[in-house]
Amino acid sequence: MKKLGIQDLTVRDGNQSILATRMTRQHIMELAAVLDKVGFYSMEVWGGATFDSAYRFLKESSWEILRDIRKAAPNTKLSMLLRGQNIVGYQHYDNDILERFIRLTIENGIDIIRIFDALNDPTNVRNSIAFTKKHGGHVQAAIAYTVSPVHSNEYYADLVKMYESMGADSICIKDMSGIITPKNAYELVSAIKESSDLPLNLHSHTTANATALVMEQAMKAGVDIVDGCISPFSGGTSHLAVETLLEAAKLTDRETDLDLDALSDAYDLADSIVNYYIESGDLRTRSLIPNPKILTYQVPGGMLSNLLSQLEQQGAADRITDVLKEIPNVRKDMGYPPLVTPLSQMVGTQAVLNVLFGERYKMVPTEIKNYVQGLYGKFPAEPDLDIVEKVMAQIPDKKTPVPPEDLPYVYEDNKKIMTEFLGREPEEEEVVAYSIFPGPVRTYYEEKELGKKANDAPAKQESAPAKSTAPVTNNPAPVANPSTTSAPASVAYDADVAYDVVVDGTAYRLTILS
Ligand code: CO
Repeated sequence: MKKLGIQDLTVRDGNQSILATRMTRQHIMELAAVLDKVGFYSMEVWGGATFDSAYRFLKESSWEILRDIRKAAPNTKLSMLLRGQNIVGYQHYDNDILERFIRLTIENGIDIIRIFDALNDPTNVRNSIAFTKKHGGHVQAAIAYTVSPVHSNEYYADLVKMYESMGADSICIKDMSGIITPKNAYELVSAIKESSDLPLNLHSHTTANATALVMEQAMKAGVDIVDGCISPFSGGTSHLAVETLLEAAKLTDRETDLDLDALSDAYDLADSIVNYYIESGDLRTRSLIPNPKILTYQVPGGMLSNLLSQLEQQGAADRITDVLKEIPNVRKDMGYPPLVTPLSQMVGTQAVLNVLFGERYKMVPTEIKNYVQGLYGKFPAEPDLDIVEKVMAQIPDKKTPVPPEDLPYVYEDNKKIMTEFLGREPEEEEVVAYSIFPGPVRTYYEEKELGKKANDAPAKQESAPAKSTAPVTNNPAPVANPSTTSAPASVAYDADVAYDVVVDGTAYRLTILS
């Protein structure tokens, strides 16, 4: 029997998918401690949106949480999700910040770094891979899975070979939207296993409700590691339950060696913790409803429900079909980017604007303008050149893409700024956090250390979607990101979930999960 590794995602992706990363530091520690006894191959506990959320919503240092987790779970390998050159943010950061982040991450207890780029552009992950190896971490190179005429099994197998040549220790198929079908999972895992000997991990979400079959087929095809959550954190936009993975393993003659008593203890604790969030209203119950439509539209479930509620708020719910039909068109125009943060928000916004304005690309958000200039990286396929020309004509000051290695270093400047507002010399980890999320990190330290509410808190209101998947509101105030005020249509990020769009002076808040 071939051995099967199971990675538990409860503390990171489970928390992110159904609790919008609001799990408290105490609950995170308690869960990590019981899950540590189960014998998982590894536990994904950090990264993704949790870094930002720690400062922004939990009012905690994300580094301190990581040290807590390491202490609570000394026996299991810990993994994190890194967005390549975007680190845990939404833009490219310079190599100095990237290397410091990766080194600190490993020093503080992370063993495996799952590295991906939204466009699958190797340029955007090569530095992360090099630094992870340099500092002794395990590189798990992840391919962002999507479906398009160019994203064939051969395309992915070639990408895997490329990542292998760059030094990857293992590979992940990252199906962040949960759109892989059982048949495709079998064929893709087979294709990758044929072209590479590296351990292969499958990550998928249960949004479309076919994941048990997906995992069964992947196990049959020889996948080495599968991702799941302890069952109270499973289902909906989250993941398949670990308990179900064990049954699928039996069905496919794969050997697992989890401690079932420890798993049962972990279940009891997870169940009581989830009940706490149900009672406090933080559980995204809507996110637990299966949504097989994502297989038709190829958009993440969260994106679909949020587009719908956004249009409902505008009294334009009848346009949802138009928007859903427009999304694949925009993707095609843009050279088929995978719909993952931040591309999912960008493509969704452009589709809404195209429909609302009645003329395609009459209004183009800044991020799409940056995208067509190549600032996010290489397009997966040739974009529509007429559309590119139309968008380019709307950009007065064109920019040239800069290789990530050439971005100017900001560490010393930011250290000075922090020294000034803290009245003490900041630690390296504090400067790194500030360099990625200046607004929330400054607010966090000012509230904690200086005991004052920051009145220059950045525009990112906390009206962001804390409690439901339908938090879209008409936002009467002008969008506060200064870069948005000059453009007639503009966008601004708020964590990775909310997006402000101004159309004809009316601000819309799009909330799109990915
Ligand atoms: Co995920």
